Amino acid sequence: MDYKEEIIGTLRGTQDQFISGEELADQLHISRTMIWKYIKSLRSEGYTIESVTNRGYKFIEAPDLMLPREIKKDLKTEFFGKQIYYYNEIDSTNLKAKEMAPECVDGTVIITERQLKGRGRMGKQWYSPPGGIWFSVILKPDIPPDHIYRLTLMAGISVVEALEDIGIKARIKWPNDVTINEKKVCGILTEVEAQMDCVNFVIIGIGIDANIEMDMLPAIMRVSTTSLKEETGNDIDRVLLVQSLLDRLEKDYNTYLNGNFDLILNRWKEYSSTLNRRVKIVTRFKSIEGEAVGIDHDGALVIEMDDGTLEREITGTCIYL
Ligand code: BTN
Repeated sequence: MDYKEEIIGTLRGTQDQFISGEELADQLHISRTMIWKYIKSLRSEGYTIESVTNRGYKFIEAPDLMLPREIKKDLKTEFFGKQIYYYNEIDSTNLKAKEMAPECVDGTVIITERQLKGRGRMGKQWYSPPGGIWFSVILKPDIPPDHIYRLTLMAGISVVEALEDIGIKARIKWPNDVTINEKKVCGILTEVEAQMDCVNFVIIGIGIDANIEMDMLPAIMRVSTTSLKEETGNDIDRVLLVQSLLDRLEKDYNTYLNGNFDLILNRWKEYSSTLNRRVKIVTRFKSIEGEAVGIDHDGALVIEMDDGTLEREITGTCIYL
């Protein structure tokens, strides 16, 4: 039994009332001294719990942290987030996820308050200060390696729809930047370990600039980046957003596994700000300009060049012209 979870659950359940140490101890069949130890430990995790002699304990508030206990409470998923590993700080959740993946079950989540070496696409660094949402999900799908880009597109729409759940309208800039008012608010880094014809595991890493003040970001980033706090004027409930996101991701993942990728692609097109725009795509090897006219089943952007020919790009940086 997770005694701390039981204690917090009971205290929350009694709302504004005090509940005595004795009552808690009887309920859990442990001593009052043990109850006191668990209360102390919960306080050190950041929970505010009032205690008054002869009356007992009262729950005041949970810390503003993405603790597994808080995320799992009211989580509606079947397997996404059933196993959550939490770190106050870590180099990168994607790196940790890769290390742990062989031993982990499908849907395991690695989440942190702050990354010291956050990884972005195309070998870039990803700035990850406290207040953001930085997490990775480990998946073990039975799919061929070249289907990975589909999962990246899928994650983009899950983020947009989870934001919609909390009243925030966002769009997708190819391949997987989630933007608000054309500024990036979330990045997705999908990494894979695969054999020639099968995938061992996939890591979907999601970084959302949630409760981040713009002056915490390096000046160069402020031109093209925003945060949920900046756009809404408020701190958002990060736990609620993570719960909603895990729920959306699980539903979309099942849709994908059930062979309905078309449904995902249609939603991607609906949320895309890239289609029907003149774009410049910069890859490691070349740079092309043209009109973004479509997205194909592999997640490749289809670009119509000025001479009318069509080019497909599976990855790269997209600049709107
Ligand atoms: C991008 O460049 O747009 C992708 C950024 C992805 C950042 C997230 S934060 C959580 C996970 N861990 C990482 O190191 N990167 C991803």
